[in-house]
Amino acid sequence: MNKTIDKVPLVQVQGLKTYFYKGKGILSKVFGKGLRIVHAVDNVSFSIEAGKNFSLVGETGCGKSTVGRSILRLVEPIEGKIFFEDQNILELGKGEMQRFRRKAQIVMQDPRSSLNPRMTAGELIAEPLRIHRIKNSEREIQDEVAHLLETVRLSGDDAEKYPHEFSGGQARRIGIARALVLRPQFIVADELTSGLDVSISAAILDLMQDLQAQFKLTYMWISHDLHMVKYISDHIAIMYLGKIVEIGRAQDISEKPMHPYSQALFSAIPSVKPGQATKKIILEGEVPSPIHPPSGCTFHTRCPRKLGSICEAQIPPWLDAGDGHHISCHIPLETLRK
Ligand SMILES: Nc1ncnc2c1ncn2[C@@H]1O[C@H](COP(=O)(O)OP(=O)(O)O)[C@@H](O)[C@H]1O
Ligand SMILES: [Mg+2]
Repeated sequence: MNKTIDKVPLVQVQGLKTYFYKGKGILSKVFGKGLRIVHAVDNVSFSIEAGKNFSLVGETGCGKSTVGRSILRLVEPIEGKIFFEDQNILELGKGEMQRFRRKAQIVMQDPRSSLNPRMTAGELIAEPLRIHRIKNSEREIQDEVAHLLETVRLSGDDAEKYPHEFSGGQARRIGIARALVLRPQFIVADELTSGLDVSISAAILDLMQDLQAQFKLTYMWISHDLHMVKYISDHIAIMYLGKIVEIGRAQDISEKPMHPYSQALFSAIPSVKPGQATKKIILEGEVPSPIHPPSGCTFHTRCPRKLGSICEAQIPPWLDAGDGHHISCHIPLETLRK
């Protein structure tokens, strides 16, 4: 299946698998006894065009952060290819990897817990510059820190403060400044606005939009907030248990989700268009464990539109609904379109 969406992509993920191995004690380490494999990301493919907003959506634990972390090689995938421009980053040596790290950054959900609490905001923002030896003099570094604080709409005085002295929204701005300091092309924004008030989230999104234009950035958003994703994305991929189940243009996916799982997710957010209230689809049961994912279509244990044994036995095909819209399902496309 070709999931490339128009133009030349900046990032191309092909057949990505990232598993975690869990086991207790020496028996599992040496003999594999009792070793459990977490299928966190299981054969995921997508591409992201330069300058666009691509969003990964799905319930907690479906593997979104692991995809983001795999692209930056903060975790090591077991299989697949990740092209950044024309380089497969999984094949890069140490020096090339160092150069790649300047081009791709991640902003985490809560910078107060992901940033060193003993460093001031100024030190935190300057740290990547020092590691990559980008600015020469201390004066240049301090100027750059002051400039970035202003860029993320904080004040120069904030350089002296520690992470706990900032509000949630301000702390995220520090995280953004730290991500920007190496002038990357690509930023993974992992649950960037989660836990923030609506107005503060809106201000952060507005800032991100301005930065995107100013620095020609490409974003991969990771979120379980469909309402937000609907408005900021050019393309959306819906994940369930380590796999993408539906992918396409944001408008197509949010206005007419076709996969039964996507339909359930979107039915849970209130429609803003009057007279378009959709019936809320309640999914039965819990998300199964990624240690023992169900056979066939992994969604079959909760699917309200399950066809029968085919869903339990066979991995679903990719259906092509046009314009880069693909759905992984056994239900025929004509039926899903209705
Ligand atoms: N470092 C790790 N070691 C073991 N299991 C992990 C690790 N990171 C994530 N997982 C597991 O992988 C699955 C996917 O996690 P994650 O990518 O964080 O999901 P999401 O971001 O969608 O909430 C979960 O079952 C999680 O518990
Ligand atoms: Mg996550």
